[in-house]
Amino acid sequence: KRLTTWFETVLHVLQVLLIFAKEDNQSDGFWWACDRAGYRCSVARTPESALECFLDKHQEIIVIDHRNSRYFDAEDICRSADQEETSVLPLLNAGFDRQFMENSSITACYNELVQIEHGEVRSQFKLRACDAVFTALDCCQEAIEITSEDHVIQYVNPAFERMMGYQKGELIGKELTELPKSDKNCADLLDTINTFIKKGKEWQGVSYARRKSGDSIQQHVKITPVTVNSVEALLDAFLVFCFVFTEPHSLKCKNRRKDSTDVKSITSQSSDAPSLQTRRYSSMARIHSMTIEAPITKVINIINAAQENSPITVAEALDRVLEILRTTELYSPQLGTKDEDPHTSDLVGGLMTVSKISKDEITTANMNLSHSHLSVPNTINDVPPCIAQLLENEESWDFNIFELEAVTNKRPLVYLGLKIFARFAVSEFLNCSEATLRAWLQVIEANYHSSNSYHNSTHAADVLHATAFFLGKERVKGSLDHLDEVAALIAATIHDVDHPGRTNSFLCNAGSELAVLYNDTAVLESHHTALAFQLTTKDSKCNIFKNIDRNHYRTLRQAIIDMVLATEMTKHFEHVNKFVNSINKPMSEGSNCECTANITNFPDNQTLIKRMMIKCADVANPCRPLELCIEWAGRISEEYFAQTDEEKRQGLPVVMPVFDRNTCSIPKSQISFIDYFITDMFDAWDAFAHLPVLMQHLANNYKHWKTLDELKCKSLRLPSENN
Ligand SMILES: *[C@@H]1O[C@H](CO)[C@@H](O)[C@H](O)[C@H]1NC(C)=O
Ligand SMILES: *[C@@H]1O[C@H](CO)[C@@H](O)[C@H](O)[C@H]1NC(C)=O
Ligand SMILES: *[C@@H]1O[C@H](CO)[C@@H](O)[C@H](O)[C@H]1NC(C)=O
Ligand SMILES: *[C@@H]1O[C@H](CO)[C@@H](O)[C@H](O)[C@H]1NC(C)=O
Ligand SMILES: *[C@@H]1O[C@H](CO)[C@@H](O)[C@H](O)[C@H]1NC(C)=O
Ligand SMILES: *[C@@H]1O[C@H](CO)[C@@H](O)[C@H](O)[C@H]1NC(C)=O
Ligand SMILES: *[C@@H]1O[C@H](CO)[C@@H](O)[C@H](O)[C@H]1NC(C)=O
Ligand SMILES: *[C@@H]1O[C@H](CO)[C@@H](O)[C@H](O)[C@H]1NC(C)=O
Repeated sequence: KRLTTWFETVLHVLQVLLIFAKEDNQSDGFWWACDRAGYRCSVARTPESALECFLDKHQEIIVIDHRNSRYFDAEDICRSADQEETSVLPLLNAGFDRQFMENSSITACYNELVQIEHGEVRSQFKLRACDAVFTALDCCQEAIEITSEDHVIQYVNPAFERMMGYQKGELIGKELTELPKSDKNCADLLDTINTFIKKGKEWQGVSYARRKSGDSIQQHVKITPVTVNSVEALLDAFLVFCFVFTEPHSLKCKNRRKDSTDVKSITSQSSDAPSLQTRRYSSMARIHSMTIEAPITKVINIINAAQENSPITVAEALDRVLEILRTTELYSPQLGTKDEDPHTSDLVGGLMTVSKISKDEITTANMNLSHSHLSVPNTINDVPPCIAQLLENEESWDFNIFELEAVTNKRPLVYLGLKIFARFAVSEFLNCSEATLRAWLQVIEANYHSSNSYHNSTHAADVLHATAFFLGKERVKGSLDHLDEVAALIAATIHDVDHPGRTNSFLCNAGSELAVLYNDTAVLESHHTALAFQLTTKDSKCNIFKNIDRNHYRTLRQAIIDMVLATEMTKHFEHVNKFVNSINKPMSEGSNCECTANITNFPDNQTLIKRMMIKCADVANPCRPLELCIEWAGRISEEYFAQTDEEKRQGLPVVMPVFDRNTCSIPKSQISFIDYFITDMFDAWDAFAHLPVLMQHLANNYKHWKTLDELKCKSLRLPSENN
């Protein structure tokens, strides 16, 4: 079983040490059992190397060959390990108590190891965790007091002693009522607190306490009831907690992986921390990196635990589940080998993956990414009547964007933008003048390349149109706030600004400046976003954000960035599947189960809806009326052909060989695109937003391409239809 590096760093892998003088089928059995269980296994042949290996790696389980004392004395080994490593004694005791009857079957060895893990090892972990919790409480700078249910003090930490002026010994075992109370606490407050605690709720607030010296002090108090059921949860919580508060500066890094060095350096700050604690801390950090890690780790742990008591068929199925979960590419379908449809694999290769090529193939692309065409265009004061008339139909899905492109003299984005932004009260939301909005739209449109046959401002206007259409749908409208609407419209407007007419893969292969800048990752999408904000904020004349307060701006900016980045195709299946799993599917029955409770950082529904919306708007061409769909197919094919031409010219790898103008079947490429990317996504989006018109067009258009393909026609239309 191959564990990826990623997985190894996320999950603490249990380590096993086999001490066997000779390799035989028994040691092999354990070796393969470790392999199956996902443990890391080391083998030692002599007591000396065993000790050395143990001191180096601190394995949790040690298997000693006791069949033949001719080679070495197992008890002796234990004793020597024990001298070196006190904290591991209980583990060794536990382990050595077990006897394993010679049986080289991998299943027998596996069962033995797994039993040890779930029994002794886990409970040892918990014990160590408890130790660590109390050590952490001791180091904590906030005063902490723990009482039993009947208010008998059981623990106070040194900070509490300092604050209250008592010694530990004067407090532990005393009832709270025996201590002098502050008369400033009114009975009402105490009642309130008691009510909270009785209900199992936490109470926080300001309260007074009387110090030993007699004076009252005001404190901010947090009282948390701890029930037996919640002890485990508390333990986990404390583990996160203890890392956090022993190192105040790392508060913001709660989710960051804690490595042992952090923890060691903290412990050594407290003068009375013996080295034993240091050692425990470091193993704690190792072990409980689990509890502070990603939700996926929890999932894997839950499955592991479930496997334990499952019938073998279920356990095996879960094994396969784990295999899948352990890869990072959770959402990308695995394409088979090259005998798949070449159109699909080309699209996937061209749109979803970054080709790896050798260094000497990299040349610098000869692309003009200068942003100098920024001269402020003529102001548009009044919308000419013919344009205004055309725009009246703007709310219809069948709106003809190409007509708008023609009558506006290639400035569809400015005019459509003004109309749509007015309809959604964008300038009211941003508190900016219409003049600013105009200037902004002009600057953005000017930075689309008119020379691209597809990714020019007409595409941006089309995506803006689709976005506005989706925003008008009842379900969408009901799910989003005004801020989301504004963010979505702005995101649609800017989402391809300064697109060079080449795909991400091309830019990476060509070693373009942008690819270098963005580390070959979401190169274009990052650039569109970054440039759009630069253009916007550079000049106050077009800065539509200048009048909103910082918090609004931050939220808006975040939403815009998230949406534009969502148009990157590498994450296509991730976005679609997340949407399907959380929006289309009702919450599962198990939603009150502890494990599903708090998956923080999981994008909320609104974010998933916004991502899906802009993704669908971005590739809605196949859902437009046939004539528009055909025009778009022609434009995108032409842009891909131009890329292939350039790749050939420059001797770069050809990212999408099927898009060769001499051989390409456009109908086939459209069919593949629809099959692979469009159908599922729009099914899901339609199920949410209810879009029968789009689905009808999609079916018609698909039929059109199928018909052409069956007639072996490679162009946009049948020859007889060409006009
Ligand atoms: C274990 O190995 C011995 C020889 O080393 C062999 O005779 C025996 O059959 C093996 N047992 C199994 C179960 O493979
Ligand atoms: C070895 O273990 C397997 C699986 O647990 C079991 O079926 C088998 O009977 C055992 N063999 C001996 C000799 O105990
Ligand atoms: C890049 O484009 C700008 C404006 O479109 C133009 O002035 C400049 O000459 C171009 N540079 C190159 C190297 O083509
Ligand atoms: C809108 O912006 C103007 C400055 O252009 C400012 O004076 C005014 O207070 C702002 N209004 C709101 C509601 O933020
Ligand atoms: C977009 O490209 C097409 C060619 O495919 C061209 O006819 C059209 O004028 C361009 N539109 C804009 C706004 O540049
Ligand atoms: C690119 O990678 C370098 C080195 O890992 C990193 O410092 C830099 O921040 C990365 N840049 C971006 C835009 O991700
Ligand atoms: C997200 O959507 C699901 C399904 O529609 C719903 O049950 C859940 O309450 C929503 N969650 C939020 C935070 O809106
Ligand atoms: C999840 O966390 C949030 C904020 O931290 C909290 O308000 C909410 O009650 C938690 N939900 C559950 C089920 O624990």
